[in-house]
Amino acid sequence: MTNPSLLILPGDGIGPEVMAEVRKVIAWMGEKRDLTFDVSEDLVGGAAYDKHGVPLADETMAKAQEVDAVLLGAVGGPAYDDLDFSVKPERGLLRLRKEMDLFANLRPAQCFDALADFSSLKKDIVAGLDIMIVRELTSGVYFGEPRGIHTEGNERVGINTQRYTESEIARIAKSAFELARKRDNRVCSMEKANVMESGILWRDVVTEVHEKDYSDVELSHMYADNGAMQLVRNPKQFDVIVTDNLFGDILSDAAAMLTGSLGMLPSASLGAPMENGRPKALYEPVHGSAPDITGQSKANPIACILSFAMALRYSFDRGEEATMVEQAVEKVLADGARTGDLMGPDGGTPISTSEMGDAIIAALNAA
Ligand code: IPM
Ligand code: MG
Repeated sequence: MTNPSLLILPGDGIGPEVMAEVRKVIAWMGEKRDLTFDVSEDLVGGAAYDKHGVPLADETMAKAQEVDAVLLGAVGGPAYDDLDFSVKPERGLLRLRKEMDLFANLRPAQCFDALADFSSLKKDIVAGLDIMIVRELTSGVYFGEPRGIHTEGNERVGINTQRYTESEIARIAKSAFELARKRDNRVCSMEKANVMESGILWRDVVTEVHEKDYSDVELSHMYADNGAMQLVRNPKQFDVIVTDNLFGDILSDAAAMLTGSLGMLPSASLGAPMENGRPKALYEPVHGSAPDITGQSKANPIACILSFAMALRYSFDRGEEATMVEQAVEKVLADGARTGDLMGPDGGTPISTSEMGDAIIAALNAA
């Protein structure tokens, strides 16, 4: 049997720093769990632009299509702010999502007990939080046509198009209902059906899919602006939230802060099953490239390590190992290990990115 394959794309900013810590966990799986991956590494984002003049080379795209899973760090940075839109670092990530057809973006927001004090919200509002945002990732206003900036009369006009087909809505709704069945069996769908036709269709199709195949799951609907408010008012009312590409982008950043830090939130982007039965998949932390702390060993590697745990669970059917990684993270946090982003009200001394990685390995060894 051949080893499962991983393509690592560290990308820009703190991407390479946090990915170095994930590599320790990957190596640990080979040594201690008889789970060896064939790992290759390549460039994405600004790093790819610097070498190839594009944020994702065709060869890298082809490799991503072939491997069992892609692990991505982060893309973007101030050095690339003035680049033409078509070659901005973010276009590399969006190309991966689109060409691999990774329509289902899973963003679990969990508040570890040890961090309940660190959220900007009161402890009792976030303690024990465990929600899953399911964001549609390959359509909507991110990709809709027409788009662009053109001139009308004597002024410029910027255009983007929110567009969803029934089948695009139906497949993400199914993903959300399937996930809910493995959790607390509740789905809240968010759109703006009060002002957008695409929102009306979204609500209709989610309701149809529910009636047809998932009536055992509890379904509710909410306008996305109210959803944002409810997420900070009483986030524990939710189990699974399903929403479109743009609302999902915004709501998941808000949800991240409920966990104490954006440095804690992992994600999985999944597509249709490949020939080997595994879904097309890319795993990445929700945080960005964090140029303000790049190169200072301050970044929190936990979101990226937890993204690898999601890969173990969703791509490689190794839920046991995924849980081991998650419990190791929980343990080091309970023991008080903190990177700078996790400094609570009473301060303390932050540890470095690699010290956090080492602490997680030590916890894995001790388990
Ligand atoms: C995210 C990011 C991306 C997005 C950017 C980097 C293109 O914010 O994954 O949430 O907007 O989807
Ligand atoms: Mg975002």
